[in-house]
Formats: sequence, C-alpha cells, structure tokens
Amino acid sequence: MRALVQTGFGGPEVVSLRHVPDPVPGPGDVLVRVRACALNRLDLLQRRGPAVLPRFRLPHIAGMDVAGHIEAVGGAAGGLATGDRVVIDPTLGCGTCRRCAAGDPGHCASVRVVGGNVPGGFAEFVVVPARLAHRVPGHVDLAEAAALPSAWSTAWHAALTVGEIAAGETVVVQAAASAVSIAAVQLAKRAGARVVAVAGSDAKLALAADLGADLLLRNDADVVAAVRRFTGGEGADVALDHVGAATWRTSMDALRAGGRLVTFGNTTGDEVTLSLAGVYHRGLRLLGSGAYTEADFAAMLAAYFGGGMRVVRNAEYGLDELPAASAAAESRAAIGKVLVRP
Ligand SMILES: NC(=O)c1ccc[n+]([C@@H]2O[C@H](COP(=O)([O-])OP(=O)(O)OC[C@H]3O[C@@H](n4cnc5c(N)ncnc54)[C@H](OP(=O)(O)O)[C@@H]3O)[C@@H](O)[C@H]2O)c1
Ligand SMILES: [Zn+2]
Repeated sequence: MRALVQTGFGGPEVVSLRHVPDPVPGPGDVLVRVRACALNRLDLLQRRGPAVLPRFRLPHIAGMDVAGHIEAVGGAAGGLATGDRVVIDPTLGCGTCRRCAAGDPGHCASVRVVGGNVPGGFAEFVVVPARLAHRVPGHVDLAEAAALPSAWSTAWHAALTVGEIAAGETVVVQAAASAVSIAAVQLAKRAGARVVAVAGSDAKLALAADLGADLLLRNDADVVAAVRRFTGGEGADVALDHVGAATWRTSMDALRAGGRLVTFGNTTGDEVTLSLAGVYHRGLRLLGSGAYTEADFAAMLAAYFGGGMRVVRNAEYGLDELPAASAAAESRAAIGKVLVRP
C-alpha cells in the first residue's frame, strides 16, 4: 500500500510517500480502507519532535483520526463485516489494568494510540482491533466522521465530563474556532449553556456565531470586563482553555467566585503564574482534562450522529500533498479540520 512514512524529526521533508507491505489483520482485528484521515496538532508535534507519546518509534505512520470501509476482518470482529463504514477510536489500553477496567484506556501505562505510537491513517489501509471501529450511519459522510475522534472526544471530556457544564451556565470558550473548540461551543450550547466565544479574528468569531455562540469577543479586547457585563457583574461559571499561557490569566479572572477553569492544552506555553489567594479566596476549581474515556467517545458519537451539530472542514489533500496539508494545519489563520485522503 501507499503510506506517508516518517523517518526523522523536522519539517514535512522527514515524511515521504512510500510503498510498504499491506497490514494484515490478526484475530479480532479489522483491516480498514482509509477514506479520510484528519490531521491533528499531535501529528505535527510528533513530526517536529521530540515524540510526545511513550513507545513512539521511527519509522512511523501518523494519522489518529480515521474513517473508512472495512476491507477484511480477522476472525470474530464483534459483528462488523466487510464493507461496513466505520470511524476509529484511536485510543487502546492493555485491557487489564485498573484504568482500562474503568473504561479509561487513555491513562493506561501501556496505551497505544493509532497514528500516535502505532501505525495510523496516513495510508491506504490501517489495522485496528475491532472494538475500536464504530459504525457510521448512512447520513454522515466518512470525511465528516474523520473530523470527529480526537477533537470531539477531547471537547466532550473537557466540557461535559470534567467541566460538567449545565443548562443556564455561562461558559467562556478560548480560541473558539479551533478544532477542539468548534466542538466545545456546540456541546456547551447543546447542554443549554450561554457561550462566550473568544478568538483571534473576526472570521473566527463569525464561525463561532454561526455555531450558536451568544457573545463574541476578540482576544485583544477586555475579555474580563465584557464577561462581567454579560453576567451582571458576577463572572462566568466555566472557562474552557486549551490555549495555555497566553489566556490562562484571562480565563481565571473571567470566572465568578466558585467558577471552574478547565485546562486541557498548552499551545502558547506550559508555564503560568498563579496567586494561591486568587484561587482559594475566590473558591475557584482548577480542573485538568486529559484523555477522554470510552464512554466519552461512545456518547460523543451518539450525540453527533443524532444530528444538530456539525464539523468544520478546511480542505482535503491527497497523500502526495502532505507539505500543503501541514502548512494548512499549521497556519493560525486556518479554520477547520484538514483532511488527508489516500
Ligand atoms: N487534553 C487533551 O487530551 C487534548 C487532546 C487533544 C488536543 N489537545 C490540545 O488542545 C489544543 C487545541 O487543539 P486544536 O486541535 O483545537 O488546535 P487548533 O485547531 O490548531 O487551534 C489552536 C488555536 O489556538 C490559538 N492560538 C493562539 N496562539 C497560537 C499560536 N501561536 N499558534 C497556533 N494557534 C494559536 C488559535 O486561536 P486564535 O487565533 O483564536 O487565538 C488557534 O485556533 C492543543 O493544545 C492540543 O494539544 C488536548
Ligand atoms: Zn491498561
């Protein structure tokens, strides 16, 4: 098969289109013919190096977010059959440790991530355990489904499982037109919250408005003052922040007493300063949101397939167009998921 093979760390030149042997499904596996694979920030980070995930090895085939058709099954495949349309949950645990028993394979010490530390979807085929393959209903396009796994599960976990956003609450969403936040804005609206979208351009805010955001703020505005006005002086109930160092302070200050700050990314830096009194005196709750659970993934898919929400796609590229696809994904101005199509 043709596959994008990463052989070093650096720019797009460390990845080349090669012919490699077709993967063979073992017992309980499915062979998926990739229809589309979304490009993630983690794919870019691990290409630049150093590797983020444990047990990452070169050569590597990236691509965590895969949708396609089942081409072959290896023995019992949980009711899946050749020709089925599926989307892949990229996270696989050992299946026996306490975290796995709790349905939390993302925190398993032996976690394997399709496209993260085992071969992924920037190829014509990928093999995964059948339990990671979820059927896609006919009304959902496979390229649309490929935009879901990482971004939407991460948003579900942060907004609903960890953030526990409830109807009537006010939620600040930082970088509101990022891939994860596009999901978060819609999930918060679906939960009945009022959404304050903060973003770096008018085009991004226009998208947030289209997705249902109630208040639109440029990130160079006085976000804290605007949120206070919007909430009758009180402040927001929740802030969802994966931007990190650049927005941390604003997210904290925009909260009401007892508000929740959900932190789940560090795009602009990992180190922040913190006033302890500013946290305990105001009774803030700082919530780290890491890997999503199996239950998050299943609930996210069911909710999305139920209708009423949408993914935002940027463009589709062929396997031979990786430099252009990477440039699109790396550009801060770009909006929506970049998809690679074998
Ligand atoms: N906790 C987890 O398990 C988990 C899982 C997946 C992803 N993540 C993290 O979530 C974050 C968002 O992922 P994503 O896929 O939504 O990212 P994305 O689509 O690439 O968006 C990143 C956003 O960050 C903002 N930004 C601010 N400064 C930037 C800079 N210097 N370069 C690029 N963007 C900048 C931009 O919004 P503005 O222009 O509006 O500022 C941009 O829209 C990442 O940090 C990722 O690692 C965490
Ligand atoms: Zn485990």
